[in-house]
Amino acid sequence: MEIYIVDDYQQLSMKAANFVASQVILKKNTVLGLATGSTPEGMYSRLVQMNHEGIVDFSKVITFNLDEYLGLASEHPQSYHFYMYNHFLAHINIAPQNTHILPGITGDIKKTCREYEQKIREAGGIDLQILGIGINGHIGFNEPGSFLKVQTHLMGLTKETIVANSRFFPTLADVPRQALTMGMGAILQAKRILLLANGKSKARAIQEMVNGRVTTAVPASFLQLHRNLTLVLDKEAASLLP
Ligand code: PGA
Repeated sequence: MEIYIVDDYQQLSMKAANFVASQVILKKNTVLGLATGSTPEGMYSRLVQMNHEGIVDFSKVITFNLDEYLGLASEHPQSYHFYMYNHFLAHINIAPQNTHILPGITGDIKKTCREYEQKIREAGGIDLQILGIGINGHIGFNEPGSFLKVQTHLMGLTKETIVANSRFFPTLADVPRQALTMGMGAILQAKRILLLANGKSKARAIQEMVNGRVTTAVPASFLQLHRNLTLVLDKEAASLLP
């Protein structure tokens, strides 16, 4: 595990963008695993800039998003579809058919999940997976519990996650209670993983992830088993590390 600790969010965003850009520059047809949330916003914004400056070309890149709220249509402003297009995909030269996001509205959840896994396999697996981390140690919507699922699946959100994500919704009651998420399998099979965290609220999850036991109570702790994991943390998120 490689850990970079930077002063602030601005530096975190620049470093993360450089990391992703260097991957895409080296391998034009990179398969990127994308994350949503507040943490990668600055990174996406810098990558858009780098694309416009001609530094990085996304025309051959393929993307798979980690997760989507169940019940939110892609036009819903809080859907992860909306987020991804708004922050990143609509502003770069990516081919729309190369972008994949789990649907929030689907008639057959199991089939949708199976087909998503199949598409990731057909693309050759994920070259670089970008991750955030929940304050409860979740990865995507793989929430803490007594077990984790390997495959893409439907997940009930924990109370902590519903509360944490309520900042984006008018009221707590508006936060969807379920989501589709990639399982830990496709995430751990990614060739490289880049995890970003900033702010004090993430310090405990980061400490447990880096130094704690591997346990389903902290899904991120399974990342300790990955051989090519890079963390970019600001000082606050790293504040409980030895
Ligand atoms: P955040 O979410 O970037 O909005 O903090 C991260 C996560 O919940 O995985």
